[in-house]
Amino acid sequence: MTELVRVERRGTVAIVTLDRPERMNALSWATVQRLGEVGRELSAEPSVRLCVLTGAGDKAFCAGADLKERQGMSREQVRDMLSAYRSELAWLATAELLTVAAINGVALGGGLELALTCDLRIAVAGASLGLPETSLGIIPGAGGTQRIARLLGQARALDLVLTGRRIDTQEALSLGLLDRVLPAGEDLLESTLAWLKPVADGAPIAQRAALLAVRAARTLPLEQGLDYERELYERCLTSADRDEALLAIAEKRKPRFTGK
Ligand code: COA
Repeated sequence: MTELVRVERRGTVAIVTLDRPERMNALSWATVQRLGEVGRELSAEPSVRLCVLTGAGDKAFCAGADLKERQGMSREQVRDMLSAYRSELAWLATAELLTVAAINGVALGGGLELALTCDLRIAVAGASLGLPETSLGIIPGAGGTQRIARLLGQARALDLVLTGRRIDTQEALSLGLLDRVLPAGEDLLESTLAWLKPVADGAPIAQRAALLAVRAARTLPLEQGLDYERELYERCLTSADRDEALLAIAEKRKPRFTGK
């Protein structure tokens, strides 16, 4: 049996790989539970700043719910699964580390919902994305309807959710569903790490404050958001890393951040 989900640490980065290529990295009950465990482990490690979520192989990031397993599930088990999506995958949006979906192939149904739960999305040029659930007599049930509407606006969300159509990466990029598409010939993981190197190597207090401030804009009214930004700025202002950055500029050298 494969490990379902592999975790590799590279300094401040955790690379989390869905590892069921024979099932297009589909989300089985055990995979979702394992993702939850991984989330709890990473959330408890303050040294982790960036989590890259990707899929094994070059065909699929994740083909959504494991439809073979789903066939043998009772309605009650499906209800439990929907609750598990919510409890076990939420860390991708709430843990105090930046999460990025590195989409290496198809991202369909729950696979796209998983990517939507992450803060950012990058994909290889040949990937395709879609929420085909309505064609299966259901709707996205891992937060997809809510997250895609918040990300793209209601009309674009209705288009994708109600038609269930699959789109290519160029369309996904123009809609804002993807943040980046990889130029041909580049390695997905290495490009993702190069793109987000300033996060992985940056001043930890400022990085965390920036992440929390921007995420809060999704839910807080503006005045409260501005108060929160001010509170987070204070954490940076009183940090040794802020003093070090000013000194480094004066001394014309790179700053050495310590996270204090
Ligand atoms: N759950 C479980 N197994 C899946 C799966 C899923 N969601 N998607 C694909 N697989 C399995 C296939 O059954 C097949 O295994 P088998 O040969 O043992 O039967 C294997 O992965 C390869 O899939 P295949 O369809 O032969 O590959 P493909 O390259 O032609 O197509 C997909 C890949 C992902 C486009 C296609 O399999 C597909 O549309 N899957 C369903 C996706 C979906 O509707 N997800 C939303 C669920 S709500």
